[in-house]
Amino acid sequence: MAARCLGRGVGRLLGGLRGVGVRALAAPRLWSSASASVAPPSSYQERIALAAREPAAFWGPLARDALVWDTPYHTVSDCDFRSGRISWFLGGQLNVSVNCLDQHVQKSPESIALIWERDEPGTEVKITYRELLETTCRLANTLKRYGVRRGDRVAIYMPVSPLAVAAMLACARIGAIHNVIFAGFSVGSLAGRINDAQCKVVITFNQGLRGGRVVQLKKIVDEAIKVCPSVQHVLVAHRTDNKVHMGHLDVSLEQEMAKEEPVCAPESMGSEDILFLLYTSGSTGKPKGLVHTQAGYLLYAALTHRLVFDYRPGDVFGCVADIGWITGHSYVVYGPLCNGATSVLFESTPVYPDAGRYWETVQRLKINQFYGAPTAYRLLLKFEDSWVKKYDRSSLRTLGSVGEPINHEAWEWLHRVVGDSRCTLVDTWWQTETGGICISPRPSEEGAEILPCMAMRPLFGIVPVLMDEKVNHPVHAPCPTPLLVLPPWPPLPSPPHKAPMQGLLLEGKAPLGCLSCSALGPAVWRTGDGDSFCLLGVQGNVLEGGDVSGALCLSQAWPGMARTIYGDHQRFLDAYFETYPGYYFTGDGAYRTEEGYYEITGRMDDVINISGHRLGTAEIEDAMVSTAAAGLGAESESVPHLCVFCPAQADHPAVPETAVIGYPHDIKGEAAFAFVVLKDDVGDVDVVVKELRSVVADKIAKYAVPDQVLVVKRLPKTRSGKVMRRLLRKIVMGRAQDLGDTTTLEDPGVITEILSAYQEYK
Ligand code: PRX
Repeated sequence: MAARCLGRGVGRLLGGLRGVGVRALAAPRLWSSASASVAPPSSYQERIALAAREPAAFWGPLARDALVWDTPYHTVSDCDFRSGRISWFLGGQLNVSVNCLDQHVQKSPESIALIWERDEPGTEVKITYRELLETTCRLANTLKRYGVRRGDRVAIYMPVSPLAVAAMLACARIGAIHNVIFAGFSVGSLAGRINDAQCKVVITFNQGLRGGRVVQLKKIVDEAIKVCPSVQHVLVAHRTDNKVHMGHLDVSLEQEMAKEEPVCAPESMGSEDILFLLYTSGSTGKPKGLVHTQAGYLLYAALTHRLVFDYRPGDVFGCVADIGWITGHSYVVYGPLCNGATSVLFESTPVYPDAGRYWETVQRLKINQFYGAPTAYRLLLKFEDSWVKKYDRSSLRTLGSVGEPINHEAWEWLHRVVGDSRCTLVDTWWQTETGGICISPRPSEEGAEILPCMAMRPLFGIVPVLMDEKVNHPVHAPCPTPLLVLPPWPPLPSPPHKAPMQGLLLEGKAPLGCLSCSALGPAVWRTGDGDSFCLLGVQGNVLEGGDVSGALCLSQAWPGMARTIYGDHQRFLDAYFETYPGYYFTGDGAYRTEEGYYEITGRMDDVINISGHRLGTAEIEDAMVSTAAAGLGAESESVPHLCVFCPAQADHPAVPETAVIGYPHDIKGEAAFAFVVLKDDVGDVDVVVKELRSVVADKIAKYAVPDQVLVVKRLPKTRSGKVMRRLLRKIVMGRAQDLGDTTTLEDPGVITEILSAYQEYK
């Protein structure tokens, strides 16, 4: 099947441009003494310290210098973790697409913005900044003609491609909010995300191509929008020459774009207007639409892209993530383009057509930074080293890892085999919520030590705090006196401010937090020397010093962080700020060494990570139990019940209950194990289990399908009816002898029952 490179006119813009030289663009400067209100700190360490101590003094001049503004901001930040108010660069107006495109086109229009590494090796297409701007403008004008206005939501259900990037930037250009939905998601996930955001338009391809296989994107959209009344138009681009059914809402994107002018006046957006929504999984069944805004997000993505990867003008930056995830947003699109980089769009898989694909691509495109996921590295290291060694990788300077903990074998292989022990390897910890990398080695810092499998050091403005997992009850008291900021780590200086006690002070507990001044970041202080502080809430204790493990929190706001959950600010507060008042709780655990380096130990909630894809176990459980009695696998009639956001229509006829846990998997990192209770009269159990797997694939995505499904008579529950997943995890991990406290079990006999079912299953 011949891959088509877009239609006439637009195709000319995006295709057939091989051979255009990569010309270096000057990236925005990191720090300008001219615009700084204070003398710029000279060393990296000093800058890190300044960002933690005085965020406004650090971020203010940086933002003014690094971004192109229509109107300068008047206030650097206004943040309060208690109310979840997070605002940066208030009063400022700018357009993100101008920052990513126009500013570079003015200086160097023929520099390469994107290299589209298409599924078939050797068929890459290069797109200049000028071409990307023109395509973006045509697409923006098309969106406007189809009724999309500032603030409207647009769903983008497309694999990595120049048109998908142009679609994101076109939304940014006209002030619309994009909602990119991973093109591997199934009907239910797609419908849920469109409905929750009330998207007006969906942009998709007729089909996708991945690993030599055709993906029926338009068909999935057709099914999904049957239950999405907000959708008024579907703009269909063409990735293959195959015809697909076109309904009354559908129009050909290329044809419509060809009618438009390649210029479009950018909307001037407020710093805190929404740039995009991106849905991610939490510990409940319903994915969360995280909201990222304009200026702070862009600044943070651009800054971290430059520093973590040691990006230098003229480099070819190869992040192989899909744009359906935050990694693709920040390090395929916004960070690199804001820096004027050449960014690679990788459409294929690590093993297509063979296990040398990544490294052959590195050789052909002369990639300088390669950023991928441990799951792919684990898969590739199983093959002979010759798959790596036969390609020239001398262009590589930095290798990156993201999305899940990287194990030693994968780290060593990446370092030694891929990087020939000469490249810098950065394990980067961050989340959809954080907008950009938060903890990572900093190779741009001279001589910075990097230890294997460690995210190592916090970046600018990131103040990690490890909390005791033991959670106390929150205490609330009025706190009229604002205090000064004291980031709890690195070690505290002597108290700059003494204030009379205004709230409750818990004897012997450290730290106490003054949340009233959290506009500046929460003040945290020990009570040891008699100094007292305002206190609005205390849960858990800050773990000080080295060689400690705890819940990873961040005590201070940074520009790239998510602002809320779309349409549900209370959920935002509950999910991130309730457990440890005054702190952003990441959901991850971490270990801090004596030297103050961080290692991420994994999720502390019911979120699992399958092949780097984040998934709530509750999502899988909901998918399995809430399918309508109308029938599993039934075609269109079952669609209304596939929406993962809709309340269950009816219980599955055969499955009254299920509990899903994650367990370690060689390649995927984690895989799902489902314990399922069936009704008595279900008939053929094997058929039901097969159907359940296909329901999960239809409602969520193929990667979410549990590897193991074990039918049991009962689940282990407490007297109040809570399923004790902890016990199931221990059984699967072969630690049944060490179940811990089981006194709250309603009937301890259930364990013997499940154990013998498990032994038989194994
Ligand atoms: O558990 C952490 C894990 O991935 C989660 C975030 O997933 P998501 O929002 O999908 O974003 C992934 C890409 C940024 C985190 O809460 N995670 C991410 N990076 C690492 C990691 N775990 C260990 N080490 C990492 N480097």
